[in-house]
Amino acid sequence: MRNVAVIGSQWGDEGKGKIVDWLSSRADVVVRFQGGHNAGHTLVIDGVEYKLSLMPSGIVRPGKMSLIGNGVVVDPFAFFREMEILQEKGVEIMPDNLRIAENANLILPVHQAVDKALEAARGKGLIGTTGRGIGPTYEDKVARRGIRLCDLAYPEYLREKLERLMIHHNALLKGLGADVFTIEDLYDGLMGIADRLLPFKGVVWKILDGAISDKKKILFEGAQGTMLDVDHGTYPYVTSSNTVAAQAATGSGIGAGSVGYVLGITKAYTTRVGAGPFPTEQDNPTGELLGQRGREFGTVTGRKRRCGWFDAVQVRQASAISGIGGFALTKLDILDAFDEIRICVAYELNGKQIDYLPSSPVEQAALTPVYETLPGWTSETSGMRSWDAFPQNAVRYIRRIEELTGVRVALVSTSPERDDTILIEDPFGE
Ligand code: IMP
Repeated sequence: MRNVAVIGSQWGDEGKGKIVDWLSSRADVVVRFQGGHNAGHTLVIDGVEYKLSLMPSGIVRPGKMSLIGNGVVVDPFAFFREMEILQEKGVEIMPDNLRIAENANLILPVHQAVDKALEAARGKGLIGTTGRGIGPTYEDKVARRGIRLCDLAYPEYLREKLERLMIHHNALLKGLGADVFTIEDLYDGLMGIADRLLPFKGVVWKILDGAISDKKKILFEGAQGTMLDVDHGTYPYVTSSNTVAAQAATGSGIGAGSVGYVLGITKAYTTRVGAGPFPTEQDNPTGELLGQRGREFGTVTGRKRRCGWFDAVQVRQASAISGIGGFALTKLDILDAFDEIRICVAYELNGKQIDYLPSSPVEQAALTPVYETLPGWTSETSGMRSWDAFPQNAVRYIRRIEELTGVRVALVSTSPERDDTILIEDPFGE
């Protein structure tokens, strides 16, 4: 038995929801460790649809402990909105089954205003953020002026911190030609929810320490994907947190050795939402077909996702950086309609072949993918539950992905339905 961390191995939207739900049904504790309500996934359990953004997936299942770690940025107003929608569907959410780390930073309305004003000012250099205030909140955190959950318990201290915070943000908003905020607005807003929010405050590292001693099964639920990592992704077209598996430790307060098995959720092709480099993008009928068949629209913002071929160079890099032990391969059935399927096996940069994604955006923009073409299987794999029935060319495609990335496929998901999954290796090691 071991713990499991689930992370995206591409640019997010790899189809983590279904896999995380399946794993969380078997875990005792489910922990979010980075990001915020920029994430989004839909779970369907017994015909009921649940849309989660900030809440750990375990929340919809009775008897699980859900934790929001210190690495997450928490919009307390969005937290209550999500909680109310879930409660209307009969989900019980109480401090008994959900805790937010007392040292988690809070997203305030001013962060969203700054996020939007900065994006508007970026013009051509737009990142295409979700507008949820994620970046400005992480900026405040590392600048040591962030407002944390524990601050709400001390109103005078909170007011002093808000005063300091707003010297910075109002100067910025003024400079950007946007409306400024009064300290009272922010203070009153926070004090208006403090009594409801504080009971959820917890010492998450301690809860996890106890869970590890009690040999509970812990699932670390990543959001976004490795290529959106602020250090290892396609900077500056990234989110503002570390999305790699190591963040499961720092973003929740456990030792690196307790993260356990890293399951990389990997789509059988590639998508990206928002701006930034994407070497295998197909801005043509192939990309259109992938997008149509895969229903590639963002869960949070509804934006159309950019689509392209599987990039083995990028996924191999993500696997090395996150220590991925196995893939959950998703949306293979979207490729059922293609006669030929391409995999990027290397890049060409200034006439030379390279086997990694360089960090410079100038170099990333100049890459030409080197493709290998494999025959398609042009038959339906959607809904398949066993290897034996799989078309030979589909197996060949999977094996080639394994060879090129050096990572085994631990499970294949063949439709959004939970049971349409072929399990090869159990992530929890049971
Ligand atoms: P932010 O996280 O809102 O700052 O957005 C920064 C970048 O990350 C943008 O390109 C977003 O589209 C992307 N992004 C943020 N969250 C997600 C996600 O959950 N899935 C896919 N892309 C995301």
